[in-house]
Amino acid sequence: MEERNFVVDPGGALHGRFRVPGDKSISHRSIMLGSLAEGETRVSGFLEGADALATLATFRAMGVVISGPDHGRLRISGVGLHGLQPPAEPLYLGNSGTSMRLLCGLLAGQSFDSVLQGDESLSRRPMKRVTEPLAAMGARIEAAEGGTAPLTIRGGHPLTGFRYDMPVASAQVKSCLLLAGLFAEGETWVREPAPTRDHTERMLEGFGYPVLRDQGWVGVAGGGRLRAGDIDVPADISSAAFFILGACIAPGSEVVLEHVGINPTRTGVIDILNLMGADIELRHRREVGGEPVADVHVRSAQLHGIRIPEHLVPLAIDEFPAIFVAAACARGTTVLTGAEELRVKESDRIAVMAEGLRALGIDARPTPDGMEITGGELAGGRVDSHGDHRIAMCFAMAGLRSGGPIEIARCANVETSFPGFADLASAHGLAIRAEPV
Ligand code: S3P
Repeated sequence: MEERNFVVDPGGALHGRFRVPGDKSISHRSIMLGSLAEGETRVSGFLEGADALATLATFRAMGVVISGPDHGRLRISGVGLHGLQPPAEPLYLGNSGTSMRLLCGLLAGQSFDSVLQGDESLSRRPMKRVTEPLAAMGARIEAAEGGTAPLTIRGGHPLTGFRYDMPVASAQVKSCLLLAGLFAEGETWVREPAPTRDHTERMLEGFGYPVLRDQGWVGVAGGGRLRAGDIDVPADISSAAFFILGACIAPGSEVVLEHVGINPTRTGVIDILNLMGADIELRHRREVGGEPVADVHVRSAQLHGIRIPEHLVPLAIDEFPAIFVAAACARGTTVLTGAEELRVKESDRIAVMAEGLRALGIDARPTPDGMEITGGELAGGRVDSHGDHRIAMCFAMAGLRSGGPIEIARCANVETSFPGFADLASAHGLAIRAEPV
């Protein structure tokens, strides 16, 4: 990917009715479960971003025939639970933590060896959270020093189901273990310390695979079958979040974001912004292929600082960069606690956001598990996204309220989750341009 910077001229407002690209989490899972299913799965609304395309390439490398993507449409010829072929080469997953952690569980149950590699950021991210419980199921996985990628997964080691009380609230860990559980002897059960996104469970059930539930535990029994079905991927609320932010903070804005996934395990950002005084409404609620969707109506409003309820943290885990910019535009102080997970995302989002907000003149005080931000006047300036897509996009929206131009360095990775972001934002009122470096 060619590196590029964003330059945003100050001011303006957001307007229009439009749809942001498909949900990243659901797109990954559509490839994985579609490949393991029996029969043809047709996907629409698939996110053609680098992360989901990395998952797609991986399954092609394991012999799955997938046609597309063509305007978000795919046809996956499922090979069944035991039909994957050994990949000829290491599987390169770029920046995508979801690909690596979910694949780790799925591949631990195969008869062949595989190697998972990632870019510099992914090679720093913690993988013991999946390799340790998988080892307890019988998997053999070799990691680099510190337990990070590259990961070599040895095939032919039978897995046994178990019960695992997860130490972190992570949908990636939960999904990894449920996918391993499809290949394990007996039942695999997990319990999370707080609810996280449940797209894996929903899609398994959509494909006819029973998901077991018992007093906060969720599980699967190995040895079942997945039956292909059609998947309509809703627009990604995590991508919509940047436009929700922009419309909240830029006076005179009004946008309608169409067909957004509003799974209750993902809507923390709306609850948090509404607690801060935002004017966000969900209209035309409906259900599409097992996932709730709605049109999100947003009008600008004066925001005020709040103490963010900790139970909302896992439900808004990818949206804190956007919420921090909202806090910078709010009256008073916003306090976030209980969010240490932000330190192990595509970047350390507590450190990198504090650095960027301070560069723009905002009083942002990082803490080990969160941040305190006192709203103020955003100045223009230069911030470094550290190659983190969500940091690049939230600082782009900050331009709507800044006193001068904002230049954001290292924005190429916006392609991982939101291809076409700069063009879409520019078409709806943000004075943004992408510049090669
Ligand atoms: C994801 C889970 C979350 C989230 C990531 C996507 C998923 O990660 O941050 O962007 O698709 O399961 P964690 O499970 O590490 O919190």
